[in-house]
Amino acid sequence: MKLFDVYPINDIEPVKALGSKIWDEKGQEYLDLYGGHAVISVGHSHPYYVKRLTRQIKNLGFYSNSVRISLQEELADKLGKISGLKDYSVFLANSGAEANENALKLASFHTGRTKIVAFTKSFHGRTSAAVAVTDNPSIKAPINFAGHVQFVPFNDVEATKKAIDNETCAVIVEGIQGVGGIQVATEEFLKTIRTACDKTGAVFIHDSVQCGYGRSGKFFSYQYYKVKPDIVSVAKGMGNGFPVGGILISPKFQAKHGLLGTTFGGNHLACVAAISVLDIIKKEKLVENAANVGTYLLEQLSTFKELKDLRGKGLMIGIELEKSVSEIRNKLLFDDHIFTGVAGANTIRLLPSLALTKPDADKFLEAFSKYVK
Ligand SMILES: Cc1ncc(COP(=O)(O)O)c(C=O)c1O
Repeated sequence: MKLFDVYPINDIEPVKALGSKIWDEKGQEYLDLYGGHAVISVGHSHPYYVKRLTRQIKNLGFYSNSVRISLQEELADKLGKISGLKDYSVFLANSGAEANENALKLASFHTGRTKIVAFTKSFHGRTSAAVAVTDNPSIKAPINFAGHVQFVPFNDVEATKKAIDNETCAVIVEGIQGVGGIQVATEEFLKTIRTACDKTGAVFIHDSVQCGYGRSGKFFSYQYYKVKPDIVSVAKGMGNGFPVGGILISPKFQAKHGLLGTTFGGNHLACVAAISVLDIIKKEKLVENAANVGTYLLEQLSTFKELKDLRGKGLMIGIELEKSVSEIRNKLLFDDHIFTGVAGANTIRLLPSLALTKPDADKFLEAFSKYVK
C-alpha cells in the first residue's frame, strides 16, 4: 500500500531528539525552531515526560470514558490553576480541529443559533465546522461551504461590531494567527468581540491551539489584555507530541450526559502526557522563558534592516521579507541544519520549544544573518 500523497515533505528523517535538538538517521544534528509545527512545548523527549508516560503504559494505556479516570481530574485541576480559569470546566479531545469542532457545537447547542463570525486569514482545522470557519477555500470540499459563516477582516473593529448581532451563535478568533502569518489581535479588537458577545448573547471562542500553552509568553495570549473568552480551545503544545486537545468552558454552559463525546479523548496516556507538560512548564518556568527568549529574539531581529515586518509575542514569531523565503528556509535547513516554519510565501515562522535557550537563539540569528542583513 502507498501513502496518500498529501504532504510536501523535506528529505530528512529525524530518528532521535532531545530538548531543541534533533538527529537524523545519518547522525546529523539539527536545531529545532519549528517544534514540529508548534507542538513541542517542553522540549523533545523530556526525561520527566518520558518517565511518566513509560510508567503509565506499563500500568494501563487505555480505558474508555465509561469509567472513572482520576488523571482527568488531576489534569483539570492543574490546568485550571496554571491558566487562571479555575472556575471553567474542560472537555478533552484529541486534536485542535476536534477541539474547535466541539467549541462551535457547544456554542450552537447553548444559543440555539447558527451564524458564526470568523476572520480573514483564519485557520481552525480541517473537520467540518472547523474548516467552515477557516478562511481558505482551497481546503474546503463542497460539503464544507456552509452558508452560516461570515468572514470579517481580522483586527477590523468597526466591521466586527457590525457583524455580531442577535442572530450570532459564536465568534471564533485566534489571539495570534498562526497559519495566517503571525498576526497579533489588538486589545481593542478582542475587547470589541467581548463587548459585542455580551450584548448579543453570542459565544466568544478563543482558538488557542497554536498561540496558547505559554507560547506567547503568557499562558494564553489574550491574558495580555485582560479579556476573558467563553470557550478556549487548546491542543498542540498540550501534549508535547502526544495527541491531545480540549476546550475550557465557562461556568455559564450547562453540561448534559451525551452532549459531547469521543472514544479516545481524555485517555490515560494523553492525560499523563498533558499533566507532565504542565508540571514541567511550572517547574522550569517555561512561560517566563518563552517571554524572555522571545523578547530577546524580537529585539535582535528588529536590528535587521532588510525585514519588511516583524510580528509576534514570546516564541511565536513571524519574520516577513519583501521576497519569497523558501530559498532561505531551505538553506537554513540543509546548510545550517536549523528547522524553521513558514507562513505564506514571504514569512518565516519560528515556533520553537518554550525551553529554547539564548545560545540556541543566537545560533539561529548568526545563521539567518548570512542571508538577511
Ligand atoms: C490556530 C489553529 N487552530 C486549529 C488547528 C488545527 O489543529 P489540528 O491540526 O491539531 O487539528 C491549528 C493547526 O495548525 C491551528 O494552528
